[in-house]
Amino acid sequence: MKETIDRLRSEGSERIKAAGSESEVEAVRVALLGRKGEITSLLRGLKDVDPAERPAMGAELNRLKLDLGELLDSRQAEIGGTGGSSANLVGDLTLPGVPPAAAGTNHPLLTVLESICDIFYGMGFSRDDGPEVELDYYNFTALNFPDDHPARDIQDTFYIDPKVCLRTQTSPVQVRTMERNEPPLASIFPGRVYRNENADASHSSEFFQIEGLVVDKSISMADLKDTVDTFVRNFFGADEPTRFRPHFFPFTEPSVEVDMQCVVCRGSGCGVCGQTGWLEIMGAGMVHPNVFKAVGYPEDVYTGFAFGMGIDRIAMLKYGVGDIRLLYENDLRFLTQFRGVF
Ligand code: PHE
Repeated sequence: MKETIDRLRSEGSERIKAAGSESEVEAVRVALLGRKGEITSLLRGLKDVDPAERPAMGAELNRLKLDLGELLDSRQAEIGGTGGSSANLVGDLTLPGVPPAAAGTNHPLLTVLESICDIFYGMGFSRDDGPEVELDYYNFTALNFPDDHPARDIQDTFYIDPKVCLRTQTSPVQVRTMERNEPPLASIFPGRVYRNENADASHSSEFFQIEGLVVDKSISMADLKDTVDTFVRNFFGADEPTRFRPHFFPFTEPSVEVDMQCVVCRGSGCGVCGQTGWLEIMGAGMVHPNVFKAVGYPEDVYTGFAFGMGIDRIAMLKYGVGDIRLLYENDLRFLTQFRGVF
């Protein structure tokens, strides 16, 4: 029986290879594996084989049956329904394609970050980055924060050791950039910052800021105003210029908070702007002489302005997102709403 099996294996595969059409392949299939086929009758004959050899023969026969079945199937696929030219394997190239079901897109925060950067690139700014794990010196000391300033408090700042913290703002990149470059300079610094806050609808312990810095001879508050107004017009399409309110930051003097016309009611007063018609969007001011001293710029020669805004807040205002946590949960039901929005 063993010889018959070996013979069928080689003969069978020769016959399958030789079959040139669908019906020829089918004919070989019937001849080998059909009800009255050669392999089927061998299987029937197993009962007459010496019981000691029977299991081995049975296994051998079954393997042959499976192998020939596979050969038949692949020969059939090779020939194909309509004659087996390679064009049929590719399909009809004139049909529209099938889009991938779940293509990834940029996160809305990243998209907002990049489009803010684009507006500033258009105004001639370049871009610099700094580390998220930052020296206390850059995050506070060089920025003219006194040693006992409450922002250094462990309650606001995540300290890694007494000299190293997670940056609480992008302002340390001002110092790093000035240390590396001579004026004139105009640069933006987008990035992630950390504060020890309890999460709620408008607070998160990590969020994004974008900082801007311009230093040259005779830079004035009017340059700051113009830059900020140009950004707000471009990004939000606001029709009104921004308004400056006096404020305090250790590293700018004078310092302001910047409000823009409410994006929802366009100034007439609504729930989003607390009926004022204005929304606060950033902190800003003229670079403090002590910051210039820290980086070795002569403070009687140069002046400069700086501003910093929360990208999360800007994204939420632009797209009417009511809860900052949505930006960090990565829930696809939220994220997919931004596909194709930008
Ligand atoms: N770093 C300040 C903040 O996080 C914002 C700011 C930046 C203010 C630059 C003035 C100038 O609140």
